[in-house]
Amino acid sequence: MSESVKNRIEELSKQIEEHNYKYYVMAQPTISDFEFDKLLEELIKLEKEHPEYLSPESPSQRVGGQITKEFKTVKHKYPMLSLGNTYSEADLTDFDDRIKKALNTGYEYVCELKYDGVAIGLTYKDGVLVQAITRGDGEKGDDVTTNVKTIKSIPLKLRGHDYPKEFEIRGEIFMSRKVFNELNKEREEIAEPLLANPRNAAAGTLKMQDSSIVAKRNLDCFLYSISAEDLPYQTHFENVKATKKWGFKISEFMEKAASIQDVFKYIDKWDTERNNLEFDIDGVVIKINSFEQQRILGFTAKSPRWAIAYKFKTQRVSTILESIAYQVGRTGAITPVANLKPVLLAGTTVKRASLHNADIIEKLDVRIGDTVFVEKGGEIIPKIIGVDESKRPEDAKKVSYITHCPECGTELIRNVDEANHYCPNELGCPPQVKGKMEHFVGRRALDIDSLGAETIAQLYDAGLIKNCADIYELKKEDLLKIERMAEKSVNNLLAGIEASKKVPFERVLYGIGIRHIGETTAKKLAYYFKSIDALKNATLEQLLEVGDIGERTAKAILDYFADKHTAEIIEKLRSHGLQLELSEEQLIHSSDKLKGLSFVVSGVFSKFSRDDLKKAIEQNGGKNVGSISAKTSFVIAGENMGPEKHKKAEKLGVPIISEDDFIKMIN
Ligand code: IVH
Repeated sequence: MSESVKNRIEELSKQIEEHNYKYYVMAQPTISDFEFDKLLEELIKLEKEHPEYLSPESPSQRVGGQITKEFKTVKHKYPMLSLGNTYSEADLTDFDDRIKKALNTGYEYVCELKYDGVAIGLTYKDGVLVQAITRGDGEKGDDVTTNVKTIKSIPLKLRGHDYPKEFEIRGEIFMSRKVFNELNKEREEIAEPLLANPRNAAAGTLKMQDSSIVAKRNLDCFLYSISAEDLPYQTHFENVKATKKWGFKISEFMEKAASIQDVFKYIDKWDTERNNLEFDIDGVVIKINSFEQQRILGFTAKSPRWAIAYKFKTQRVSTILESIAYQVGRTGAITPVANLKPVLLAGTTVKRASLHNADIIEKLDVRIGDTVFVEKGGEIIPKIIGVDESKRPEDAKKVSYITHCPECGTELIRNVDEANHYCPNELGCPPQVKGKMEHFVGRRALDIDSLGAETIAQLYDAGLIKNCADIYELKKEDLLKIERMAEKSVNNLLAGIEASKKVPFERVLYGIGIRHIGETTAKKLAYYFKSIDALKNATLEQLLEVGDIGERTAKAILDYFADKHTAEIIEKLRSHGLQLELSEEQLIHSSDKLKGLSFVVSGVFSKFSRDDLKKAIEQNGGKNVGSISAKTSFVIAGENMGPEKHKKAEKLGVPIISEDDFIKMIN
């Protein structure tokens, strides 16, 4: 029996990684997402039942869960150098002349895209990923292995057999434009500050403490160089190509160039083509292909003489700011948007640009009628980055930021520590009311997919719905009166509404749209308080006891429940049978036995995986912390717990308990 479970776990792990490879590296999936999820579910279930067979390279580990309080600084085995940069073709000709002179024989270049992300060095031993280090200062970087393991295009275990026994492969971790724009949209929805560009988003994500959040951010990685003693080829291009069959994602746009003229052609092509890529690049990297020639050329103090980066000039145009419009989001946040005289930028006509908030307008000192500089990064909507004051017309009008909501006329407010102005009329301001309902029915919340933004607007305009609870009072006869709503779509809609009553509590909690409460926080709160009533009665102190809840979020929760309309909506939802507490099934696995206690988990365990142990702590009301302090209640020690941790716990008088002691605590 146990042998067959072991075999099944191995077989599933292999199949899942094969599908990950086909999907993330080859971009040629052969099964549906549904079928993939089924395989993963089966694997997770078996590993839970048989933790003795859970391996650190299992694809189930890609969902993350480990918390890193502080990233360890590690010395690079080979220093991570940077590249000489240039913006001019003349410099490239000089570079080529230097190489010609130094080599005095034929040579070929490899041209690559210069990905705009975060450099990473990955070490593999016997085909297994053992360490991932950021560039840092080039000598030493941060160990971000736990977070990197969640990136699905990075193999945890290599394919085939002919890879070197030990090697380091380097590349760039990035966030695709699509993922970046989705992330910002989500942040806008929960009133979080927006991320500036995909590179910052990738860098920030890689240094997050909670790897399960990293896993959800869908980072990606292109590999661009490999170092080892026993590589199959003596050329860069061929070695990098070989890494693909071991499971690495490399760019399909790497090309050889026989001369500097061919390099120029490559540059010209990508200077325009870059706008059509799914990710940001900021230039092209040119490298000598032969390792022997690279060795002859050598290094300067900072960078190799055999490579250079050609950076594209930022795509920037100037145009006239005609007016500023103010948009109102679901949470009431006001976003100023510049209306521009249409101008061509990076292949598209730009008519609007983001101005973010009042502070940015003030800092730019931008006036209506000004000539402004507009730039485009990975964002859908470009940014105004400056003003050409020399072209300022005499009658340019200073911007006086609006004081009242453009949609409902309510006076705006601005909290001391927040960048945006808000319209406080949550229940009467049309875009807020509609936006809240759109969020409520969204896929991650109540998932009523037959109720899109357009139908919500129609129903709202017809006076049928004003808040999310009204959705449950919709009648067939009313719906049939709505334009373009035939019997079939009405039945569909009603069935979707009915089905949403079974959606678990944590998603309802996310759906009701408390400011600053994203999916993860909603889940944490749901498991901590177990019911909406307990959450509603929580004090500020109690809210702050929940891991990762800061003062700002706690206050938003208190404000939300202090509102009497909110109370009415919640009572209505309750009367319609929505899930406002954890289900029996969820409760079985949870309690508040560990309330007020904090734990450090260290080492390897036999009955739990580390992630499950941490989950068990949270589901029983405890808090996971990354490092031992005098405030820590217990250290749960598994096998191989480091001696340093042991010493620290003893010195601070923190009790060290075993896995079995912990099980006794929760049972
Ligand atoms: S090769 C010796 N190739 O650009 C340096 N770098 O300063 C070898 N980058 O931080 C680097 N795309 O993260 C190389 N195709 C590519 C690259 C690339 C992006 C980044 C790299 C490094 C910076 C160069």
